[in-house]
Amino acid sequence: MQLATGHEHWSSRLAFLMATVGSAVGLGNIWRFPYSAGMNGGGAYVLIYIAAVLLVATPILITELMLGRRGQMSPPSSMGKLATEIKASRKWKGLGYAGLFTALCILSFYSVIGGWALAYIPALGSGVLAGAPADKITGVFTDLVSNPWTLLFWHSLFILVTVLISLRGIRGGIEKAVNILMPMLFLMLVIMVAYAAAAGNFAAAVDFLFTPDFSKITGAVVLDALGQAFFSIGAGMAILMAYGSYLNRNVHIPRASLVVAGADTLVALLAGFAIFPIVFANGLAPNSGPGLVFQTLPLAFAQMPGGIVFGTLFFILLSSAAITSSISLLEPIVQWVDETFPIPRKIAAIISGFLTWALGLMTILSFNLLADFHPLGMFDRFASKTFFDLIDAFTNNLMLPFGALLMSIFAGWLMNKTITSEELGLATNQLWFRSWRFLIRYVAPFVLSIIFLTNIF
Ligand code: PHE
Repeated sequence: MQLATGHEHWSSRLAFLMATVGSAVGLGNIWRFPYSAGMNGGGAYVLIYIAAVLLVATPILITELMLGRRGQMSPPSSMGKLATEIKASRKWKGLGYAGLFTALCILSFYSVIGGWALAYIPALGSGVLAGAPADKITGVFTDLVSNPWTLLFWHSLFILVTVLISLRGIRGGIEKAVNILMPMLFLMLVIMVAYAAAAGNFAAAVDFLFTPDFSKITGAVVLDALGQAFFSIGAGMAILMAYGSYLNRNVHIPRASLVVAGADTLVALLAGFAIFPIVFANGLAPNSGPGLVFQTLPLAFAQMPGGIVFGTLFFILLSSAAITSSISLLEPIVQWVDETFPIPRKIAAIISGFLTWALGLMTILSFNLLADFHPLGMFDRFASKTFFDLIDAFTNNLMLPFGALLMSIFAGWLMNKTITSEELGLATNQLWFRSWRFLIRYVAPFVLSIIFLTNIF
């Protein structure tokens, strides 16, 4: 097998793993997972989440990296090339374009929330919240989201940092950033868990996250857990295809994918252990929703000994995790722009960053000036949904399962066994290969179609 040498490749297996774990670990793990677990009753949700990671999201992760490495180009071009190779329709390029579009939409709101995390570093770090009354602390959040200019500032800063890393390329930009941020992130997380164990109610958190109450399982809980698994791993869009295209042939994709999925799940659970002991020790509610990290948790930090220092550390942790994901969300777009137009990567990164920044303005406004604007208000179901609610639901509930479904059909039903077994480094009669193929041919399409259809109707 020849490698197309047209673009850069990861400098090592470790560099690839750090970048891909960095992509997977983000707001999804530290902000979204704890609040979804909190809202969905804890233990039973966590069990379903882990099953979803193992049985559906990881096989898709493997598939996506495989398609990317085989294609060696941006997602649309890779899909076109692979389709030609197996004599399928060139229309499969559309899957790549859909992926780019999804990444652009996700990054546009991801960076607004990443901006909140950045904003909390000085908010807590300045110390003014120490011992402050509850309404002052929750007021930080309401003040932040109600002021479009403040949101604009933090959103712009977040995109700027992302673009400044991205324009330096794979080795000079992404690898350098993850080499610093990933070890820092793990260290900060361990410190936070130790603090929560020392100063919080750890036993209550373990009980909450690990004692399943099966009566809490409903169809909606299962759907939430599945959606969370996909978002957290970052599968179903073009991102992992782009990262896979920079991958050398000597990396064993199934093994690397298990490392990535394992690390991602571990970080989500550790984030739960950093947050819930503090929440429970202070008599706060675990089910406060998206405000858990931004409103509930600061209430606890303000009261606790050392809370201001550890609270600040927590938001540095959250911001770093978000940045290593946002550079990956920008990557397929940069790669495609760079490949398609005769411009240097630097300019491609700036253009891509600008587009996501501009789309993000709608999310910013949907928290304040356009809070009462319901773009799909004519449909009952969307009557109360803001632009942000819609773009979040559109990407997570429709585009993600749809992209993943098409990928599983392409790799499971259209690509032949010899190609996939060669690309995965597994013999066709090996149990691992047979399991992957079974999951990707039957389980994934079945589960994904259900998610997709349930979300449409
Ligand atoms: N997985 C990231 C997170 O958990 C978000 C993300 C989604 C990254 C999709 C890349 C692709 O926050």
